[in-house]
Amino acid sequence: MHVRPAWLEIDLTAIADNIERLLSVLGNQRKLIAVVKDDAYGHGATIVGQIAQQCGAHMMAVSLIEEAIELQPVCPQTDILILGLVPLDAVPAAIEHGFHMPLDNVDRAEAISQAASEQGTAAKVHLKIDSGMHRIGVPSDEVGQLCREVKGLPNLDIRGIFTHFASAPDDPLFTTQQFERFQQACREAESVLDRRVLLKHCVNSAATVRYPEMWLDAVRPGALLYGIPRNRGGQYLPTMDQALAMKARIASVRTLPAGEKLGYGRTWQAPRDSRIAQVPVGYGDGYDRHLSNKGELLLRGRRVPVVGSVCMDSTFIDVTDISDAKVGEEVVLVGSQGEESVTIAEIAERCGTVVQEVPVRMNVRLPRVYTCQPGDERVAHLADRYRSATSDVSA
Ligand SMILES: Cc1ncc(COP(=O)(O)O)c(C=O)c1O
Repeated sequence: MHVRPAWLEIDLTAIADNIERLLSVLGNQRKLIAVVKDDAYGHGATIVGQIAQQCGAHMMAVSLIEEAIELQPVCPQTDILILGLVPLDAVPAAIEHGFHMPLDNVDRAEAISQAASEQGTAAKVHLKIDSGMHRIGVPSDEVGQLCREVKGLPNLDIRGIFTHFASAPDDPLFTTQQFERFQQACREAESVLDRRVLLKHCVNSAATVRYPEMWLDAVRPGALLYGIPRNRGGQYLPTMDQALAMKARIASVRTLPAGEKLGYGRTWQAPRDSRIAQVPVGYGDGYDRHLSNKGELLLRGRRVPVVGSVCMDSTFIDVTDISDAKVGEEVVLVGSQGEESVTIAEIAERCGTVVQEVPVRMNVRLPRVYTCQPGDERVAHLADRYRSATSDVSA
């Protein structure tokens, strides 16, 4: 059977190690809510969910009810929090599945409570506080009022309270302000409800790395689990390993005489007689067009420059300095080869985007190959199971 000579390789050992490293730093007192939304940032939510459950994550978080429904059968012992607002017509299904949902206003509270009463149960909700992100949530200074209004609703089970930081990687002042507003909101909610709200959580990856004092009852990272934070490790956490690699095999090699221009828009001109290899991956696979004349790939453990515009299905590299580069040779667009590596953080930086966007965009049409380190009992069964269901394009 034909297999495409381009693929994403996902190292399950790296994900399991990252989760275990994080859990060991958190200790017994704090829990991990593993963010596996958007197909676990392109790594495969059902597989990452199983690893997270097995390693001891307390809860999974996704954006959509559809994602939660897909995840639940493989993580039956782990509660799932839907981070986005659940459309009201989907609320009964969310309750039936036992998902946790954010609560941001009294109308939603009444609708959720009503739907739960019709099922003879209580819906699990987390008060969502808008402490400055201004996306969803009750404004932090209105949470007392909301709690007074919902306190009497019999079918609401308020399990948690959370907020989300707008600028955790680069604005400590505003992050601290958001945290203080959140703390104040927690105090007000608990005072009005007259009980402790069990799960207070606010930190994403960047804040988990930087602010251990904000970890509270649970941390809620996504990027960190996959080893793609902007800064590798930090004062409080060990370095995490990047799990994802993008690889391909050279499709063709040609000589371009000095002075010739290359590809769409003819944006690159050969400064000398050049050997140009065509790699069968393009922006249609999430290899960003901003990498035109800017990116670097790895070939034989060396960096080689991207030349010309990245096309939808292919990318050119200048291999003049590796003049015997051959059709079929493996190149690494993201990941490591020998001593060299191209990190997701590097790609994000070159493209002027956030690290989270890079793997998510690579999740469109490349086959995924799951690998693990030899002898890794924790994840070998997952790598095996998935490998038998897909073609092993890396072989
Ligand atoms: C509400 C919420 N919490 C946590 C996260 C995890 O963020 P990160 O990947 O930066 O850790 C996200 C992701 O955007 C989010 O929307």
